[in-house]
Amino acid sequence: MSLKTQLLSAQCSTDLTQAAELLKAGEQVAVPTETVYGLAADASNPDAVAGIFTAKGRPANHPLIVHLGDVTSITEWATPIPDEAYKLANAFWPGPMTLLLPRAEHVSPVVTGGLDTIGLRVPAQPVLLDLLATHQLAVAAPSANPYKKLSPTTAEQVVHGLGGKIAAVIDGGPCQHGLESTIVDLTKRPFRVLRAGPITASELSAVLGETVEAPEQHDSVVPGNVGSHYQPNTRLQMVAADLSDLPAPHPEKRAALLHFGEAPTRDDLVCITMPNDAARYGQALYHQLAQADQLGVSEIWLAQPPHGEAWLAVHDRLRRAVS
Ligand code: TXA
Ligand code: MG
Repeated sequence: MSLKTQLLSAQCSTDLTQAAELLKAGEQVAVPTETVYGLAADASNPDAVAGIFTAKGRPANHPLIVHLGDVTSITEWATPIPDEAYKLANAFWPGPMTLLLPRAEHVSPVVTGGLDTIGLRVPAQPVLLDLLATHQLAVAAPSANPYKKLSPTTAEQVVHGLGGKIAAVIDGGPCQHGLESTIVDLTKRPFRVLRAGPITASELSAVLGETVEAPEQHDSVVPGNVGSHYQPNTRLQMVAADLSDLPAPHPEKRAALLHFGEAPTRDDLVCITMPNDAARYGQALYHQLAQADQLGVSEIWLAQPPHGEAWLAVHDRLRRAVS
């Protein structure tokens, strides 16, 4: 089935009303968030949510995150709610943090992939937040990419991946963080970060006054955060940060190189300079990989980024993106 995907503007109030009407009618609409674009559908309508899986080609047992317009509505989706959830919500919502909580009984298993837990977050993108609050909507929304591909950080990238498969995209410009939210499991102790993101385990621990384990301290990951994921179509390989192991020049084929500092002068390379601070690197990563992917190069080489807690989310995504 091919739909005409409408491009709606986050600046235009009639476009936003239309987006709300489409969502209420059970359609799938891609929305900007502060992390990446999400593919939203009314979380209280199982058929609408099922349409997300169809559009993405995502297996039905991969749970979705429900996005809410305010903290108080978490009681409609999760129970019981520990005090720590409110402490973290007060510190980091609206923002790039997803809390895993026990799901409320009435929540459709289509949303949670059949699990008895649910992921909730209040996003910090002002237009989306306003849409959810004004229309009393809760939307289930995974990243708005075909299954296993790069997450989109612009409306253009959403259309590239899902055009013809969804009703509309709200264009809210480039995403602020560029990497998906931090997922924190509050359903058992010790609390754990299951997916690294913009908010670190240290920041969460500081608010709670107890240790929240970081992903490298345990081996559990969220279902669906599979080994190969976030992949460009072009083969992606990591090279040493100082470019000392860069493969020899190729007579015909060009490769793309995402590097730091000065670019090597070589005719067979298209060089893209990456920011050297972790937040700006994360913001640019999917976008630059998507750009490199569309150059028609034979390979993408990426200079190994620095390590340390601030870079964890970047390394997590890169581990799954290399082929
Ligand atoms: O920043 C984000 O989190 C973006 C934006 C759109 O909000 N969303 C996002 O959704 O990254 P998605 O579906 O691409 O990734 C969510 C991850 C999946 O790996 C899913 O398995 C996991 O969260 N997840 C969701 N609900 C869960 C649950 N109840 N238990 C365990 N993992 C869950
Ligand atoms: Mg995703």
